[in-house]
Amino acid sequence: MNTRIFSLVMQNLKDSFSLPKYDGLELNQLSILDDLPFTPVRREKFAQAIMNELDIEHLQLSGTVEHFVQSLDKIYMKRFFGEIWKPDTDDHTFSGWSIVDRINERNPKNVLDFGCGYNQFKPRIKNLTGIDPYNENADYMVDILEFNVDEKYDHMIVFGSLNFGDEDDIRARFDKLYNLLDTGGRMYFRVNPGILWPKGPYVDIYAWSFEFAYALAKEYNCKLEQYKKDRQRFYFEILKM
Ligand SMILES: C[S@@+](CC[C@H](N)C(=O)[O-])C[C@H]1O[C@@H](n2cnc3c(N)ncnc32)[C@H](O)[C@@H]1O
Repeated sequence: MNTRIFSLVMQNLKDSFSLPKYDGLELNQLSILDDLPFTPVRREKFAQAIMNELDIEHLQLSGTVEHFVQSLDKIYMKRFFGEIWKPDTDDHTFSGWSIVDRINERNPKNVLDFGCGYNQFKPRIKNLTGIDPYNENADYMVDILEFNVDEKYDHMIVFGSLNFGDEDDIRARFDKLYNLLDTGGRMYFRVNPGILWPKGPYVDIYAWSFEFAYALAKEYNCKLEQYKKDRQRFYFEILKM
């Protein structure tokens, strides 16, 4: 779950119900919005505060807090990654254009670019499919969790895209990627150690570390290779044994 949007929602709910008569009202991620004792004015004020802070025009106040946060996260991520964020491939040494030769020289059979953004590698790397839930340049606009295919991939590019939400979000998607990777296949990562985007303060960046990458690789009986700094990010490869 997007922990930044969750905190914003919880803070505004607490403000809405800060009167003594609401003492004892339990607010948590399972609270159902329609069951909360909003007056029409407070409900409108709550909605307006969230819309102003996230700079969005519509929202639907329904379901649980968790469900509400997920729907806000989708709207926010779509706007940020579909319209505001621009590619920075030129700025990276190991996770920039040099990946094109490194993959092509291995004669790839089937390459997956997970969170491909503007799908810049598509015309340059053989047999590449780009998926991304928020960018219309993807071959498939889908999250990996809903990407169900029978084929396997021998190379996967994961540049800046397995980096959002909490550890459970990262682990669920890593697991799916691992299962779609051929034995002997290789994943190429660029990860963010927790640096927020000034223009997207509610994009929830998971702070990757060497320890986490190493532990994850070990858990899956994979090899972690080439861990190095790539400007303000880290580059590494994971090899499926
Ligand atoms: C920092 S950008 C990197 C884009 C591209 N890989 C590049 O290097 O130019 C992060 C990308 O991850 C995508 N993304 C965010 N959440 C995702 C998810 N759950 N599954 C796949 N891609 C996701 C975003 O839409 C965005 O295009």
